Amino acid sequence: MRLTTEEIRFFKSQGYLVKRGILDPELTARARDRLWDDSPPSLRRDNPDTWIGPIKEEEASEESENYKKGFRWQYRAPGREQWMVQLLPKNADVWEMAEQLLGRGLLKEPSGIRGIYCTLPYGDEPARPNGCHVDGHPFHLGLVGYIDDVPEGGGSFSVWPGSHLGFYPTFITRYKREATAQYEPLRERFNTQAPVDCWGSAGDILFWHHRIGHMAGHNRSRQIRQAVLYDFVKKEIEETQDEPPLEDMWLDWSEEVQSC
Ligand SMILES: [Fe+2]
Repeated sequence: MRLTTEEIRFFKSQGYLVKRGILDPELTARARDRLWDDSPPSLRRDNPDTWIGPIKEEEASEESENYKKGFRWQYRAPGREQWMVQLLPKNADVWEMAEQLLGRGLLKEPSGIRGIYCTLPYGDEPARPNGCHVDGHPFHLGLVGYIDDVPEGGGSFSVWPGSHLGFYPTFITRYKREATAQYEPLRERFNTQAPVDCWGSAGDILFWHHRIGHMAGHNRSRQIRQAVLYDFVKKEIEETQDEPPLEDMWLDWSEEVQSC
């Protein structure tokens, strides 16, 4: 599967791109099952009433392999299992599209993925302010895959379209975390605008530029938002990550992207 010129242009101007029905249904079902192997005890798979957050204090854990706190449940331990790599970055269509964006043969081979990232339903939790942020660890292209349906308002990966163009020069280096004084005012400005809710169905994916403003949406649905995440990294990142941002931010991308 290849991206069209229109899709590449959309990605360049908006900083993200949704593709529907990409992931293998057998593997998304397996991931939904795997999630419950080490769930907070009071959450019962067969009873959605128990899924409403926040996580009980006595069941919370900040241990990174299975982080459970508030409305967030980030089960990272399965991320190193090879079938999870096949589910997401090494899905043949996903890999081909990522190589189309970043260059054939230039991506680091994945040894794992971030894991299964969940947002519990908010229930009666009062409205919260937006939490626009840019990820700071070095990578090129983010990937979110939904392993279950995420309805509108259901805690999608939400983005501020086009914000990658503004945020890119507010970092001191091309790929590291340290930001300039321009970052925070820009972030605050985006927080006054509503992000785009990238809802979807099990099997849908979303590519996102590493400097796009985003947040895990507030989950106003009755179901658990379940996503798998991976970060594509080019083999050359150690050589470029400390350089200042480029005049042309697409020079690190494929020739096809540059020419669109
Ligand atoms: Fe993030």
